[in-house]
Amino acid sequence: MRFATRLIHGGRRHTFHELGTVVEPIFTSAVYVYHHEVSRETPHVLPYKYSREDNPTVAHLEEKIRSLDSAEACIAFSSGIASIRCVIDSLVEKLGRLLLIAPLDLYGSTLVLFRKYAHRGLIELETVPPGTESILEKLKSIDKGSVVIFLEEISNPVLRVYDIEEISKNLKDHKYENSLLIVDNTIPTQVGIRPIEHGADIVVYSASKYLSGHNDAIGGIVALSGSVKELEETIWHSRRLHGCIMTPFTAYLLDRGLKTLHLRMMKHEENARAVAEFLLDHSKVNEVIYPGLSSHPDFKTSIKMLGNTSGIVSFRLKNDPDLSKMFKKLRIIIPGVSFGGPETIITHPLSTTHRYLEENERKIVGIDQRLFRLSVGLEDVEDIIEDLDSMLREVY
Ligand SMILES: Cc1ncc(COP(=O)(O)O)c(C=O)c1O
Repeated sequence: MRFATRLIHGGRRHTFHELGTVVEPIFTSAVYVYHHEVSRETPHVLPYKYSREDNPTVAHLEEKIRSLDSAEACIAFSSGIASIRCVIDSLVEKLGRLLLIAPLDLYGSTLVLFRKYAHRGLIELETVPPGTESILEKLKSIDKGSVVIFLEEISNPVLRVYDIEEISKNLKDHKYENSLLIVDNTIPTQVGIRPIEHGADIVVYSASKYLSGHNDAIGGIVALSGSVKELEETIWHSRRLHGCIMTPFTAYLLDRGLKTLHLRMMKHEENARAVAEFLLDHSKVNEVIYPGLSSHPDFKTSIKMLGNTSGIVSFRLKNDPDLSKMFKKLRIIIPGVSFGGPETIITHPLSTTHRYLEENERKIVGIDQRLFRLSVGLEDVEDIIEDLDSMLREVY
C-alpha cells in the first residue's frame, strides 16, 4: 500500500466480520480473559491482558504509525512529553551514563525535562545553539562514551530545519560506545519527512498537534528503527510502570485524524505560505520566519529534507507589542499555546511556551518580546489575513 492508502487502511484490524464495520471499534475493556498458557511479559502480543499495558484500539493505531514511519516498532503514549520521558528513562536504564546533545531551539518543556535528568545526575546534557552546524561542531569535540542527539526536525518556534542525514552520518562515523539520533517530528509529520528513512534511530511525536489534527486530543508516539528494536521492550515497560498508555478514545481520534493528514498538511502549507508572503510585505513586521521562503537560513536544507514545510509561520514585529490590545482585535485567530489544528492559533513564546529559558539562551535562539508563532489553520486564508491585518493595525 502507498502512503495515502496506509493513512486510511493501515493498522492491525479488529473489525467484526458479522457486523461488517468499516471503522476500527473503540475497545473500552480494561481487562481481558487471562490465558495462563501464554507468556505475559512480551509487549504487543495477543492476547491482551490489561489496558494499562496494551489495548486493541491503541495497537491498531501503533501498527498504522509503525508502517507510516517505516519503523520496526511503535508505542503510543498519553502525551508527547510522556513519550519523550519514557525514551530517556529507557536509554538511561540501557546505556548507563550518556551524553545528551540538544540544540536550544526545543519545545520549552522538553528542555526543562532534560535539565531535570541532568540535575539528578542521570545524564550529562550539552546544549548547543540552533542549527545543523552547531551539532556537527559539538560532535567533533567528543570521541568516546554514549552520545545521544535529540532535535526537532523543524524546531519550535524559530523553525530551523535540521539535516538529519548529515548529522546521522557524522554520529555513526565516530567511535562512540553507543550513538543514537532522536528526532521530534511533530511539526513536519510523516507527510514532511520520515526521519528513519534518513538515518534517525528514534522518532517521537506530540500527537496532540497535526497527527490528531483537530485540537481535541493529547497523545504521544515513539517509533523505533530496526537499529534500536531491542529498546521496544524497555520503553514498553516504562510506559506500563509510569501508567501512561494512550487512551482508546484518543487512539480512535488519532486514527480518524490520520485519514486526512496528507490533505490537511497540503492545505496548512498552502495557507502558511500565503500568510508568510502577506507578512513579508507588512510595514509593522521586521522579520518573517518560514522554511519555505528563500530568505530562511535553512531554505536549502528544507528543499533537501522536506516534502512539506508545514503550517507554522513565525514573525517578529518592528516594535514592542501591547499583547492584550492586539489580541482583542482578533475575530478568528485564537491566542493560545498549541498548534496543528484547523483553528489558526497565535502564540507569544516569550510569555508562554519558552518562558523557562534563561535570558542568554533566549538571545541565542532569537526569542524576544517581538516574536510570535502562528499555527496557520484551515480557514479561508483571506479571513486569516484580514484578521492578522486588523491585529497589526494596533501595533506601533
Ligand atoms: C515539538 C513538540 N514536542 C513535544 C511536545 C510535547 O507534547 P505534548 O504537549 O503532547 O505533551 C510539544 C508540545 O507543544 C511540542 O511542541
